[in-house]
Order: sequence, then structure tokens, then C-alpha cells
Amino acid sequence: MPVTVVVGSQWGDEGKAKIIDLLASDHDLVVRYQGGHNAGHTIVAGGEKYALQLVPSGVLYSHVTPVIANGVVVDPVTLLDEIDRLTARGVDCSRLRVSSQAHLILPWHFAHDRLAEGRRGDNKIGTTLKGIGPAYADKARRAGIRVGDMLDRARFREQLSALGDAENDLIVHLGGEPLDVAAIVEQYAGAIADRVTPYIANTVALLHDALADGSRILLEGAQATFLDIDHGTYPYVTSSSPTAGGACIGTGIGPRDLSRIVGITKAYTTRVGSGPFPTELTDALGDALVDIGREFGTVTGRRRRTGWLDLPMLRHAVRLNSLTEIALTKLDVLDTFERVRVCTEYRVQGRRTGEYPDRLDLLAAVEPVYVDLPGWQTSLEGIRRIEDLPVRARAMVDLVEQEVGIPVRYVGVGADRDAVVQRS
Ligand code: GDP
Ligand code: IMO
Ligand code: MG
Repeated sequence: MPVTVVVGSQWGDEGKAKIIDLLASDHDLVVRYQGGHNAGHTIVAGGEKYALQLVPSGVLYSHVTPVIANGVVVDPVTLLDEIDRLTARGVDCSRLRVSSQAHLILPWHFAHDRLAEGRRGDNKIGTTLKGIGPAYADKARRAGIRVGDMLDRARFREQLSALGDAENDLIVHLGGEPLDVAAIVEQYAGAIADRVTPYIANTVALLHDALADGSRILLEGAQATFLDIDHGTYPYVTSSSPTAGGACIGTGIGPRDLSRIVGITKAYTTRVGSGPFPTELTDALGDALVDIGREFGTVTGRRRRTGWLDLPMLRHAVRLNSLTEIALTKLDVLDTFERVRVCTEYRVQGRRTGEYPDRLDLLAAVEPVYVDLPGWQTSLEGIRRIEDLPVRARAMVDLVEQEVGIPVRYVGVGADRDAVVQRS
């Protein structure tokens, strides 16, 4: 059973990278399947902190082949910068492979992201402004340029010029500053293409060869279930499919090859950007979660919105992704709380329901129904065995398992790579 998928079960930043880093030690390939450099994946290893945006989190292991698969949108400038920064810290990135079928994020995509957010005014999505939505929009309307297009330099120049001129007309029409298309062509079809070319590969073939060889493959989700373009809180979502189904489309690995699907769940909830958030805390407890959990975006530095754990959301994530298990992260952030609340149901127009609503207006109107747990008020730091968790912390883990019906296989008790309780 060779393929493991790691998926965020909330609105992102659940601590996916830390669990991927842990699982990568016994996988051979670690593969990003969607999103782009809107992701901020943090690994803390031996006191060193690595914040990755595009390069898969397995890169720190010399036995792992990191792969950026077809479903990702690639900003080559960020990619090269990340490779340079990792290389400067002694991380070997030479094994990295980037799909020829992945779409490129180009300078006009950044311009369109900014212009669109500006025009939305108070209704803005709060995107990361990394050009993600416009790049996926171009892919969907069949106007994108792909990484493999860099291999035919003359044609790549023509594609960039033609598209760049058309995009400039649109940007100016929308009130933006025109881009220097000639300079973009020189840069992208010159130094950038030179440096990206050695990494370009047929990753679908590479992954299937690896499967045939019995290699163990780990698929690294970015963003999360409720940022999914279909199943998330649309329009306050990203433009890709982070859910497990997206892992198949984004890699070319068929659904029957997926075995473990691990949902990463923070012991509370956070969200960056706009959109409904039923269990949000806007009081001192919310501030405490920000302070203790260091809830500031890795990519944009934005303060994350915080709230209690929401189990109707998590149960829905279990169904949407066929989750086989949960990693409950950042439980230690709740160490000092006198009372920990967990939302087990919603109240909608006086009626209690465990069902996650299909409409944004309904979600915005739900009232959470909470179970209150007494806080454990002791540090979880250093705990590595489930039986060593304080009874009150264990009660929270048990409640999650009972309510969602799948095992909690990992419990995060600190940021460091080793700070995790694992159960067989
Ligand atoms: P990702 O996007 O899902 O990979 O998560 P991020 O890296 O954006 O955010 C998670 C943050 O929490 C990072 O700073 C991690 O180092 C940190 N983290 C991960 N797991 C734990 C944990 O169990 N406890 C604590 N205290 N921090 C954690
Ligand atoms: P990781 O992988 C949290 C959010 C943005 C915004 C919305 C759309 O680190 O969990 P986009 O730039 O994708 O068009 O923005 O999605 N968002 C994330 N929030 N974690 C992320 O990634 C995110 N990637 C995008 O804040 O609300
Ligand atoms: Mg993140």
C-alpha cells in the first residue's frame, strides 16, 4: 500500500509540514500536488527553522526525491530563490523534479491578483497576492503557459510576448500599470528558463515508475479542505483542489493507489483572510491563541483569526477526503487554558445539527454548540507516549476520536520535528 496523502482538514496552517517531515523519513518521494507559493510550510529540525513555499517538505532528507507535480502552479522566481536559500543552508536540492505539465505563474498573474482584490473592496478574499487565482484561471480557460514550454525557447518567447501584450491591454484597462513585456521575455526565456530546465521532468512517468518499483510515495497537500474551490467556503477559498481527490488529479496517480489519507487538524482552528468562521474567538482567548500558537502567516505575516476546534467541520473533512486517520497538532498551545471548548454540533434556526451547511449564508448563521473540557494546565512538552498525556488532555483526544470515528494517530506537543506523540 504505497501512497500516503496528507491533507489539511481546516483552513490551512494546521502543521502539515511537520507531520510530512515526520512521515518523509520512511517515504522515498514527497510530492506537492496543488497550490503554489501561497503555501507556507514550516519545519523545525534541530533548532533550525525552514519555511518552505514550493519545494516539498521532504527535501531535508537526502533519501527523498522531492517532486512538484502537474497540479501545482509554479512561480519560477520563487522556486529558484527557495532552491538558492536551501542550498546556502546545506540542503541538496539537486533531486528536485518539476512537472512539465505544471502551469507557470507569470508577472501578469500577480498584477491581476492585486487588481481583483482591489476591486473587491470590502468583499476582498484576502488572497496571498501570489497570482494563484489568475494562474489557475488561465489554466482553466486554456490560456496558460506550462513549465515544459520552457524547453522550446523560441516558442516560449513567442508565447510570453503574445500573452504579455494581451495581458497588458487588460491590466491598463483595469487601471493597473503596464508591465515591461520585452524585459519579462528576456528574463523568463533567458536566465530563468536556463536555471529551471534541469529540474523539468515527466513526473507522471516518474511517479508510476516509482510505484512499479515499490517506492513509498507521500503526497503533500497545501492549503486545506475548507479552502478547496469546490468544497470550501466559496468564494473565500483558493483556486485549487487540496482535498484528497485533488491529489489524484494533481499527480496522475489513480484513486485506487491511495492507501493512507492523513487529515492534519489543529487542536483549535485558524483562518487567514475573509470568510465565515463559526467558532471564531474575537476576545482575549482568541488573542491568547494567537500569542501562544504564534499564529502569524508564514508567507504574508498576517495575523491569523483563531477559534475553538470545530468537529462538524472535521467530520465533513473526514467524508470529503476519505480520511483514514488524524494528526491532532498544537495540543500544547492549550496547555495554560482553564477551560477548553470543542464545538460538536451547530444550532441552525433553533435546530441542532451535525451537518456542515452547503451554503455560505447558512454557515455564517450557525451557532456552535460546545462541549466544555477542564484544561490540563500542565506542559505537554517532552511527552512522547499517549499513556503519558495528562488525563484531561487525553480526554480531548478521545472526544475527537469518538466524534469523528477515525483514530487520532499523532498528537503534536511542540514545534520541533520530534515533538509528537505517535500511536500505532
Ligand atoms: P502548514 O502550512 O500546515 O504546514 O503549517 P504552518 O507551518 O503554516 O503553521 C504551523 C505552525 O505551527 C508552524 O510554525 C509549526 O512550526 C508549528 N507547529 C506545528 N506543529 C506544532 C505543534 O504540535 N505544537 C506547536 N507548538 N507548534 C507546532
Ligand atoms: P498552507 O499550505 C492558510 C488563503 C488565503 C486566502 C485564500 C485565497 O500554508 O496551509 P490564494 O492566495 O490562495 O488565492 O488565497 O486562501 N490561503 C491560505 N491560508 N494557509 C495556506 O496555505 C493558504 N493558502 C492560501 O489567506 O484566504
Ligand atoms: Mg502554512
